[in-house]
Amino acid sequence: MFNIKVSINVNGINYCREIDPTVRLIDFLRDELKLKGTKEGCGEGECGACTVIVNGKTINSCLMLASSVNGKNVITIEGVSYKGKLHPIQEAFMEVGAVQCGYCTPGMILSAKALLDKNPNANEEEIKVALSGNLCRCTGYKKIIQAILLAESKLNNK
Ligand code: FES
Ligand code: FES
Repeated sequence: MFNIKVSINVNGINYCREIDPTVRLIDFLRDELKLKGTKEGCGEGECGACTVIVNGKTINSCLMLASSVNGKNVITIEGVSYKGKLHPIQEAFMEVGAVQCGYCTPGMILSAKALLDKNPNANEEEIKVALSGNLCRCTGYKKIIQAILLAESKLNNK
């Protein structure tokens, strides 16, 4: 198998690389770009730990080939904070105590961000739907939903 050239924008930076066309997006992010915030849980599209945003939509990076996001914009958890400050969703997760082991947290935050970018007044039901692909074994989800509602009020009061 020979390598192919891709140009992928990750967190606002364009990366032109020659890659194995069978490499998964999660491995491209973690191994090639050293962005270790994206987590692998199941590796089968079930847990959402590997969630990233591609052109505004959440996807499971364990199921996607890096070559299939050629020319697209990817946001990982490393691209959510800005100017060295936490994003209001990250602040809210900390304030409410929505993080325990933290393994699901990057994926949860990216799912929340994709939702609030489109629907800044999402209600609890809409939040539950947006998080339906993200599993958390620790928190029971209540605090995560509470955190996203708090993040909405932070974002809407800016
Ligand atoms: Fe991708 Fe579980 S690691 S969905
Ligand atoms: Fe541990 Fe969610 S905080 S899996």
